[in-house]
Amino acid sequence: MTDNLDEFEELMLGEQRRNYSAKTIDHAMNPRNLGVMENADVYATITGPCGDTMEIWLKIDGSTILSSSFMTDGCGTSIASGSMVTELATGKDIREAMAISQQDVLDALDGLPEESRHCALLASNTLKAALREYIDIKKEPWKKAYRRQS
Ligand code: FES
Repeated sequence: MTDNLDEFEELMLGEQRRNYSAKTIDHAMNPRNLGVMENADVYATITGPCGDTMEIWLKIDGSTILSSSFMTDGCGTSIASGSMVTELATGKDIREAMAISQQDVLDALDGLPEESRHCALLASNTLKAALREYIDIKKEPWKKAYRRQS
């Protein structure tokens, strides 16, 4: 039984390795920064055209992103994309993080198959939405009371 399971796992992993980069598989199977962040300064959620949703939380000090986290109900590549976009954003200045694009996420994951490229766009768009939210709240702090945090 164990031998059969090991063989099956090996077969599945071989199939994944043909379609996805080692980095994508790593981030999909061991996602970084996964989970709801308590006491986040800002939160955003976007549902993409595929019907999958990504959520991002940011902790920001001044203009520096101290930490970020994500959740998604999407596929393995959306998990990898959320993991990577939060890795890319953490430690960055808001302006630098705002410039993180779909292509940056794709490059950092060593690419995604054509049909999965939109997962990287969902991740970068959700990050941008959270940053815009932060900028809005900075301009009009009273709005924070009306926004959902988690
Ligand atoms: Fe929709 Fe991956 S298939 S985000």
